[in-house]
Amino acid sequence: MKKIIVLFVFISNIVLAQTPHWRPTIHFSPQKNWTNDPNGLVFHEGEWHLFFQHNPEGDRWGNMSWGHAVSTDLVNWQELPVAIPQDSVWIFSGCVVVDKNNTAGFGANAMVAIYTADYHGKKENQHLAYSTDKGRTWTKYAKNPIIAIPYGSKVPEKDFRDPNIIWHEPTKNWIMSVVLPKQFKTQFYASKDLKNWTFLSDFAKQGDLQKMWECPALIEVPIENSNATAWVLLISSNGPYQDYVGMQYFVGEFDGKNFKNSNSADTKLYVDFGRDYYAAVPFYDAPDKRKITLGWMSSWQYAEKLPSNPWRGQMTLPREIVLRRTQDGLRLAQKPTKEVLESKTWKNVMFLENLNVEGEDGMGITMRSHSDTYKIEIEFEPLDSKEFGLKLLKKTTNNNETIIGYSVSNEQLYFNRMNSGDRVADEFPAFYGGYLKMNKGRLKMLILVDKSSIETFVNDGEFTMTNLVFPEEGSRDWQIFSRGGKVKVVSVNISEW
Ligand code: FRU
Repeated sequence: MKKIIVLFVFISNIVLAQTPHWRPTIHFSPQKNWTNDPNGLVFHEGEWHLFFQHNPEGDRWGNMSWGHAVSTDLVNWQELPVAIPQDSVWIFSGCVVVDKNNTAGFGANAMVAIYTADYHGKKENQHLAYSTDKGRTWTKYAKNPIIAIPYGSKVPEKDFRDPNIIWHEPTKNWIMSVVLPKQFKTQFYASKDLKNWTFLSDFAKQGDLQKMWECPALIEVPIENSNATAWVLLISSNGPYQDYVGMQYFVGEFDGKNFKNSNSADTKLYVDFGRDYYAAVPFYDAPDKRKITLGWMSSWQYAEKLPSNPWRGQMTLPREIVLRRTQDGLRLAQKPTKEVLESKTWKNVMFLENLNVEGEDGMGITMRSHSDTYKIEIEFEPLDSKEFGLKLLKKTTNNNETIIGYSVSNEQLYFNRMNSGDRVADEFPAFYGGYLKMNKGRLKMLILVDKSSIETFVNDGEFTMTNLVFPEEGSRDWQIFSRGGKVKVVSVNISEW
């Protein structure tokens, strides 16, 4: 008997080995179990709320409910009890708005959640719940559903989901965007009271149509260095890499009824060029009209195989988005919010300027971080270099590394996690990149490493790459490299958490 117990303890330890060295420090992950999309992002009475698709009972997708976390600084998240649990239906993705003027009658400043009720794959419709205690407890609306059948359909649809709502001041309407995923269609609805909705218009079959459309969000985004704004429609679907989910966006105008794409219908614009950026939506009511988005840092291609334990799934950093005028028209530019970048916890450990480097270990010494969470700001000017960049997450006892590089002749920024540590799944190791021009002969990168992820923002957020990696514990060495000639490191600034 004793032997059996010992064997059992031994086996369960193997199965349940915990992985604190992969638990992110400045990104949200639940204490335990599964998460996918962020939901109900909202700023309310001094708190940032992050609800999330959660399986409270397991580390795979299932029992879908809304988990809940709050933060006062967008960096430290406190997980609270499950906010909206499943009952006879699953609680799929959706949003939260603050009903300042009590349009719905649940009380002034009530928080109103509108989400998809999924009938275990048989049908989907839109439901409402409200909270009058800062999101701690929720009451499901007695007259749910608020939208049962999408406009144009005769019966409820199997796929009709992910409502996201804004307040549209010029028409004094709540506006909902919601998708019919397999028809590549976003529908817009309007309401005066959050309960009764009328159809406005469809926006369909433009951009990338390789994977179904999910998690739409219509946002009025400031145009950099001006007082003007334009409208952006975010859609989670196919990313820039064939067969991998990701996010695309459309830039255009919204007149309170129709969204009109400013680009041709076949223009494909991607939000992020990494493999792990999905389901990002904006925070409702962020102060100063800032537009702050946050996404799920994973990919449906391997999400259930991630080796972290006892949690599976984490969010991206919150990003402030703006539109930038470019030769091709308005394009998204993104950077981590100032709350993250300017946190007092960062300790500046190194600042160097004007170094010419060459070779695989360009500086001649391997740098070692004291922490698994650090930030690198670096600007390169390739003199005669053909290819340059950084090798991160190295360790002397193995040959693992993760490479962020730039090929001068191909004008490609690439990410290489072929050999970055745990291989996760066949679909995970990858070496891929995106087209990116230097800016006046220079390339500026901001890189945030946080244990099991690397987020890279290039040329002031014009290009971003978000990726998971699972290095062996203690992989803290890194190098700068340059092949085929010298690269000038105009400056490099390192801070550790
Ligand atoms: C996107 C998604 C949504 C859905 C939710 C279910 O990742 O598929 O469309 O509401 O996840 O968990």
